[in-house]
Amino acid sequence: IVKDGNPLGFPSVWLMAICISFVIKILNHPKRKLPPGPKPWPIIGNLNHLSSFPHKSLHHLSQKYGDLMLLKFGSKPVLIVSSPEMAEEILKTHDMIFASRPPLAAIKYFSYNYSDMTWASYGAHWRQGRKISLTELLNPRTLNSLEDIRVEERKTLISRLFNLSGKPILLKDHLTLFTLRTINRSIMSKTYCSDQSNSDTSIITHERLQWMLDEWFLLGGVINIGDWIPWLNWLDLQGYIKRTKALGKNMTEFYEYVLEDHKAKRQTEENYIPKDMVDAMLQLADDPNLEIKLTTDSIMGLIHDLVGGGTDTAATMIEWAFQELLRSPNIMEKAQQELDRAIGRERWVEEEDFSKLPYIDAIIKESFRLHPLCAMLPPRYSTEDCNVAGYDIPKGTTVYVNAWSLGRNPKYWDRPEEFIPERFIENGIDIKGQNFALLPFGSGRRKCPGNSLGMKVVRTTMANLLHGFNWKLGGDMRSEDISMDEISGLTTHLKNPISLITEPRLSLHLY
Ligand code: HEM
Repeated sequence: IVKDGNPLGFPSVWLMAICISFVIKILNHPKRKLPPGPKPWPIIGNLNHLSSFPHKSLHHLSQKYGDLMLLKFGSKPVLIVSSPEMAEEILKTHDMIFASRPPLAAIKYFSYNYSDMTWASYGAHWRQGRKISLTELLNPRTLNSLEDIRVEERKTLISRLFNLSGKPILLKDHLTLFTLRTINRSIMSKTYCSDQSNSDTSIITHERLQWMLDEWFLLGGVINIGDWIPWLNWLDLQGYIKRTKALGKNMTEFYEYVLEDHKAKRQTEENYIPKDMVDAMLQLADDPNLEIKLTTDSIMGLIHDLVGGGTDTAATMIEWAFQELLRSPNIMEKAQQELDRAIGRERWVEEEDFSKLPYIDAIIKESFRLHPLCAMLPPRYSTEDCNVAGYDIPKGTTVYVNAWSLGRNPKYWDRPEEFIPERFIENGIDIKGQNFALLPFGSGRRKCPGNSLGMKVVRTTMANLLHGFNWKLGGDMRSEDISMDEISGLTTHLKNPISLITEPRLSLHLY
């Protein structure tokens, strides 16, 4: 390269090499085409666009920017999915890439460091947790074998409401007590919560356990500033980290007691045969051949996922459906006429009766459409770069599917804001994750593993409450005054539960 004794060619060759490598780099990584979205502010990104009802603010924003919208929460990319077509892209076409959950700081303290199922990242640990819940509890054979518990608890619920007939009640309180007792007995054989009948074996009150579940569902859905602007995390500006730590501590105290109680029973017998899911998990924890070691933390996390999944979900969905029926007395009357025709006034509705009640089924589906339990499905997280509908989605993007938006999409739903159960009669619309305009249980790898149990409880409870009682509004409230205001967390609740008065409508010897 030395010319006439001078190193003349040297700089130009190097310059050329740098230019060529730059061009190759650009050719290999052309400028990414990101989805549209509002311009982010420094530091906060687009957090200013979120109200206390993120599903609503993001729905409105998507009307302007489209059904695949990229925002920044702090400095982190967040993809908002607002149409059935785009939901299918994420939850079906690219399901595996988006099958993880973001490691949100607030959640760490009550998910046993993400070692439960709901908040675990995608991988062998999560797969094992899901497999255990399906083989030990959420499969058709085990669920059928647990039907007696559901029937017994339903009878207790009905006689409690019967004893209170004529007096104002808050339906939700009775529903959560019923679902909590049912799921606890199904998983751990006892309720472990005090009420008049079993205070000797209890460790906490029903109210305390309900508080834990309420906190779990609320804190699992909040936008914690420290998650998105990590250098502010230590300040815990909204106080959420403090609350999640307190929640984690309370959960551990309770579940440690449950585990110790089960271990003590196992020690009383040689070759002890597992009696419930907790026993089965303790046995698995001793299994040296298990793919991933089942730790005490994972067991506690899994139990809590199932207790939470089996309690708040069904109770909240029944409450939303009732709220709609109280606003439309003619629909409630039609449902009761169906019950009189198909079941008659001399018996209660059983799980096997459900195929005879298409109108009540339609009421439940219509409630799911307008009031999806998770207005935004729990967040997904991309583990690879990916192209969705022509847009580049970087690895490490958090994804929210707005289920509330999907159920209101005018392309799929006629008069979407109105409660019209008839739209579900005789059209077999799927609610288990195949129809992307209606995703009450999510879809894809992370879809709800408890949908079958959830539907059994929602259907028979709804049907029997309508069959067994006439429902009136308490005080001087009129149906047109009923508020549908919400409280948002991981699940969406009614803000103003109303007081109701029941009146028996079957032969009195049945109560
Ligand atoms: C009407 C009742 C129920 C509704 C509406 C419901 C709804 C949902 C939804 C929307 C998801 C998120 C799915 C996704 O991320 O795509 C979910 C996840 C989950 N549900 Fe349910 N659920 C119900 C009942 C249950 C029951 C009875 C259980 C268990 C006893 C349960 C346990 C779970 C668990 C563990 C997950 C997390 C799954 C994972 O991340 O892999 N759910 N549920």
